Parts: sequence; C-alpha cells; structure tokens
Amino acid sequence: MAKDFRGQVALITGGASGMGRGMAKAFAQAGMKVAIADIRAEATTTTAAELATAGLRVIPVTLDVTDRENWIRAVAEVEDRLGPVDVLVNNAGVGLTGMMRDMTYKDWDFSMGVNFGGVLNGLMTVLPGMLDRGAGGHLIVTSSTAGLAAVNGAAAYVAAKFAVTGLMETLAGELEGTGVDVSIFCPGPVQTDIGSNIDRVRPPHLRNEKALADPISPGETTATSLFMTPDEVGDRVLRGMQRRDLYILSHPEFAEGIRARCEALSRAIPVEPVNEERAALLRQYGTLLLNPVYYRQAPVINDDTAD
Ligand code: NAI
Repeated sequence: MAKDFRGQVALITGGASGMGRGMAKAFAQAGMKVAIADIRAEATTTTAAELATAGLRVIPVTLDVTDRENWIRAVAEVEDRLGPVDVLVNNAGVGLTGMMRDMTYKDWDFSMGVNFGGVLNGLMTVLPGMLDRGAGGHLIVTSSTAGLAAVNGAAAYVAAKFAVTGLMETLAGELEGTGVDVSIFCPGPVQTDIGSNIDRVRPPHLRNEKALADPISPGETTATSLFMTPDEVGDRVLRGMQRRDLYILSHPEFAEGIRARCEALSRAIPVEPVNEERAALLRQYGTLLLNPVYYRQAPVINDDTAD
C-alpha cells in the first residue's frame, strides 16, 4: 500500500530553488505541512510567497546546513510552527566541478562541507527526536547519478555524493523495524540554477583566487531545456517515497553507466573457491558479508505508485 504523507511535516533543505522547490510544491499539493530551509534568506522568502500565490502554504526558514547550531535553531523553529519533523529531505547542495589536479583544499572543504557535512548535520539533528517519538518518519537525500558512478572532472562532487549514498544505505539497514524509511534520490541533469548559485553560497574563506575550469559542460549552447523540470522531479520523489523506494532514480538515460559500474565490480570478484570456514566466521559479523537492505528495492516497472 502506498505510504500516506497527508498532514505530515516535511523539512526540505535547499528549498529556495530548483529541486527543493519542486519537492515543496509536490509535498504541499499532497497535503503535507512544508518548511523550506535555505542559506539564501531572501530567495527562500520569495519562493514561499510565490508558492502561496498558487495556494500552497510553505514556511521559509534560514539555514546554513554546514552550521550545527543553525540546524538546532532551524528545526526548533519548524517544530514550533508546524510540529515535529516527520520527513527530512537533505537536498541542499553545490555543483562544484573541476579536475582534481586543479583543485585546492578550499574546493574540497566547500564541496564536502555542504554536500556531505550538510546531510550529516541534518541527520544528527533530526533523527534522535524522530526515533524517540516512535511515530516513524522518512529520511530522503538528494544524491545524484554521480553518487552511483564516477564522472571525470567532478571528483569533489562524486566523493561527497558517493558518501551520502553509502551513509543512507547503511542507515536504511540500521533503521529496519523503527518505522523510519530511507530513500536515496539519484537524479541526472535537472533545469535548476545550480551553476549560478555556487558563487552566491560559497563562503569567502573557501573562495579561490582563480576560478576552476569546468571540464564537463559542453558550453553556452547546451540545450538545458531538455533537462528534467524541478516540478517533475518533485512528483517523482513523492511517488518514490510513497512506494518506500530505497533508490529513487529518475533518468533511464543513465542505465548503461550505472550497470557498467555494477558489472565491473562483479567481474573483479576473484573466481576462486570460497574458504567456507572463513565465510562461516564472517557471517557472524552482522551484515558484513551481505546486507539484506539491498533486497528491499522492488522493481520499478513504470512510474505508477503501487497501491
Ligand atoms: P539549486 O542551486 O537550485 O538548489 C540548491 C539549493 O541549495 C540552493 O537554493 C542553495 O541556496 C542551497 N544551498 C547551497 N548551499 C547551502 C547551504 N550551505 N545551506 C543551505 N542551503 C544551501 O540546485 P539543484 O539542482 O536544485 O540542487 C539540489 C540538489 O540536487 C543538490 O544536492 C545537487 O547536488 C543535486 N543534483 C542536482 C542536479 C542538477 O542537474 N541540477 C543533478 C543531480 C543532483
């Protein structure tokens, strides 16, 4: 049966624009109480006002996801105004690209700080209360297809997105039986302002003197109108949550790239007899040999919500 989110409180980071905004729309339309939290205070208020004109009530909260004190204050504000957070979407992110050989520690600290540290801080702030209340919940992260397969020219982004993918897979297993579900959203390209927002949100102490060259984008003439829209993303994420998908994938164009990685790993497994005694010992170490969380993902035959 589809999970019902009506009346639930959702906190979406990076909700001032792009996919976070798309999710806020979809969630509010589905009857959820929604807070959007973003480092860009003015843009957050503007987005909330725009959604209000469409009859969708969304409250704006200012939050720098890298700041742990800020998190405590932001969650308290949401809980005061809407109630305890049932759904946390760690979506805020920065699309830092550049060749590893050209990058500085400032690039690494910026990308890892927001894209990984921000997610970690959100979980550390919200999860204890969610578990104490015992009413279940849902934790979503916006990873990326770059959190599933490497992209040349994006090492600091790929490292952070792989990290959140692994973190959330582990958490999904650890939360078995608690009623708290985990979904890892891994989109391909979407029509957002991620390219221009990076300079708006990068703190002065993590700026380089020289800008990094972007080795990925094909250039100014890129037909980004072919990218997916944030509204479609919002609907797809909500459907994936309703299905309790472990992975929410949106772009079938990435099938071969993702399979290539899975198959490379399969090919690299030594074709040798298993040491059965060692295997029996290793089976005693929890999920070290085999994590059943991977069996949880049902096939997504089409994009309809299973009833
Ligand atoms: P976006 O730039 O429109 O939205 C990201 C939001 O995060 C912005 O509103 C920004 O102000 C906010 N943000 C940045 N640093 C923050 C901080 N320290 N604290 C709080 N908020 C902060 O871009 P988009 O594309 O909607 O990004 C959302 C997520 O999707 C990101 O995690 C991104 O890595 C991921 N993603 C984006 C893809 C794309 O093609 N646009 C593809 C795959 C993943």
